[in-house]
Amino acid sequence: MRRFIACLLITAFVIHLPVTNIAQSPKSYSCFSPDKKIQVNITHKNKSLFYSVQHKNKPVIKESALGIIFAGEERGFVNTLQVTGTVSNKFKETWKPVWGFNSSILNEYNSLLVKCTTAAGENMNIQVRVFNEGMAFRYEVARKKPAEQITDGPQRLYPVEIMGEATEFNIAENAKAFWQPLMKRFGEHFENRHKTTPVSEIDSCNTPVTMKFKNGTHISIHEAALINYTSTVLVNDDKTSRLRSFLVPWPDGMAVRLKEPVFNTPWRTIQISADAAGLINGAQMILNLNEPSKITNTSWIKPMKFVGVWWEMHLGLRSWKSGSVHGATTDNTKKHIDFAAANGIDAVLVEGWNTGWETFVGKETFSYTEPYPDFDLEYLAKYAKRKGVQLMSHHETGNNLPDYERQMEAAYAQMQNLGQHAVKTGYVGDSHVLGEDHWHQGQRFIQHLQQSTELSAKYQVCIDPHEVIKPTGLCRTWPNLMSGEGVRGNEWNAWSDGNLPEHETILPFTRGLAGPMDYTPGIFDVLYNEGKRRRKTGDAQYTEPLTTRVHTTLAKQLALYVVLYSPLQMAADLLENYENQKAFQFIRDVPVNFHETKVLAAEIGDYYAVARRNGNNWFIGAVTDENPRTLNLKLNFLKPGKKYKAIIYSDNAQTNYETNPAAYDVKEMDVTSASVITRNMIKSGGFAVSIFEK
Ligand code: NOJ
Repeated sequence: MRRFIACLLITAFVIHLPVTNIAQSPKSYSCFSPDKKIQVNITHKNKSLFYSVQHKNKPVIKESALGIIFAGEERGFVNTLQVTGTVSNKFKETWKPVWGFNSSILNEYNSLLVKCTTAAGENMNIQVRVFNEGMAFRYEVARKKPAEQITDGPQRLYPVEIMGEATEFNIAENAKAFWQPLMKRFGEHFENRHKTTPVSEIDSCNTPVTMKFKNGTHISIHEAALINYTSTVLVNDDKTSRLRSFLVPWPDGMAVRLKEPVFNTPWRTIQISADAAGLINGAQMILNLNEPSKITNTSWIKPMKFVGVWWEMHLGLRSWKSGSVHGATTDNTKKHIDFAAANGIDAVLVEGWNTGWETFVGKETFSYTEPYPDFDLEYLAKYAKRKGVQLMSHHETGNNLPDYERQMEAAYAQMQNLGQHAVKTGYVGDSHVLGEDHWHQGQRFIQHLQQSTELSAKYQVCIDPHEVIKPTGLCRTWPNLMSGEGVRGNEWNAWSDGNLPEHETILPFTRGLAGPMDYTPGIFDVLYNEGKRRRKTGDAQYTEPLTTRVHTTLAKQLALYVVLYSPLQMAADLLENYENQKAFQFIRDVPVNFHETKVLAAEIGDYYAVARRNGNNWFIGAVTDENPRTLNLKLNFLKPGKKYKAIIYSDNAQTNYETNPAAYDVKEMDVTSASVITRNMIKSGGFAVSIFEK
């Protein structure tokens, strides 16, 4: 049924956009990036607006439609517009994020406001910003307030109801696209495998979607500042390279409902770069399109590494619910706190600590303040504090938003009292809100996530929402929104056919451009030997044989700490798998906050190597897909004249993807800015390097 509604909406957009006006001569308005390499044209013709984009004088986006389709109005704001004026401006600032992968961010752009009115005297302005890293536009709308509020049904209480947008992305060539198909239905998941095909073979996809042109130009389409609106997914109606926005709807098919007639949409963004590497730092454009921090005292917001009572559950060794194989017991948590304290790990995540896991999805059974009897919350919070470790909470909602909304203030307040400053929230299961069937990416969820972000900030709690969160740079405004899932993470390797070897070479250039991701790296027991042993000996929730594995080498797991940035980064494996492992030193050493980032080598879907600086030290992560590869990395980013010690963790001659993926070498060497590090990576292998200034 939902698909049917979705199809109807698509058809409506395609067939019913009227072309009723007599042609006028088109008029264009231009805006250039500060370095003049990117040119955006807004064209007004037939009372409609279009845009096109060029990079270094070559088309990137061909003429593409703009516009909003309002409910109950056949013409909406398309085919009714007159341009009444334009305003051009420039802007330049540098700002310092609370955490991130660059300590100083330049926000520089030229802007163009194209002011338009409808015959009814309403405004729909197009605001364009052109950065050296790409372009963005949004609709700035002022409708007239209805004379009287219509109250004949819940959906008609809103003065503004949007059915969809006419926004198109008419890609200038049938470029190679790295895209994530929608799962199940619109807006449900960000956890499908990526596909790599020409743009014309996309049917519908999530954003960011990234493309490579024949001349090496890369673009990535996404959105920024998604607040009180619904998410955009992209659809391809006619198997060409023209993609169209589709707004994830409410259960009744309406896309957006707004109480105020004056509003701005989220920014629609197109990053543009001469090569793949440029997309990585260029992603700061998404942050720049968000407002500065609304949190004035940010001293309690701390990037952290954490271990957790977690992987044991995903391997079927322990249970979330209380009972004989319960994971979140006082003793097991103490063991994790002791390990964290001994190894310089900042926090311990505990899942299954709270009552309600017996019947979880969608039921009103979870408490977010009441621990199971075998989990002594107060004692553990104090114990952790004494050891200098944070106890990180977990709130799985099973998608029951109203129930969580009723309890969340008390839960965050309790966390603050206990000195807990971070929570992982979760929205497992089909989306539904007490009988209504909301899609995860829809406006109701976007509003909920905003509410949870702001309320947790009030109680000095950082959040890490799991399942379908769509990062759009809001962490600039709310730096307590530290990480999030919205990714096919390592956990898929525990209970499914897992992630393909190419996965982590694509993620930095798609999901990674949107913001930090809680991928949960660091699985050393790649073939789950310890898990298999425990299942065999009956020391497990499930006793049938474990047949899954991680689809990387151990060295590649280390590289992910640099490759996939997150200020909350987990060392995800069972603690016993870290014992007597030299490789664990890299996890101890690698920071979760960086001052500078340099891409060293990149071909999306094939390989990626990146270096990040913290103070005077550098950390490198390099990964390959299913093809073995040798990388020669020049260290010319080091300070000339300085001496450094490099520790290199890499696949070795014994490492074999099928039979011996956990074999690795650790080598130390003195390096300078003239050095080159050369390492072989086997199938789905990689290497990680710590470089300390002497
Ligand atoms: C899915 C999350 O991704 C995972 O990390 C969590 O353990 C489970 N949900 C249970 O809430």
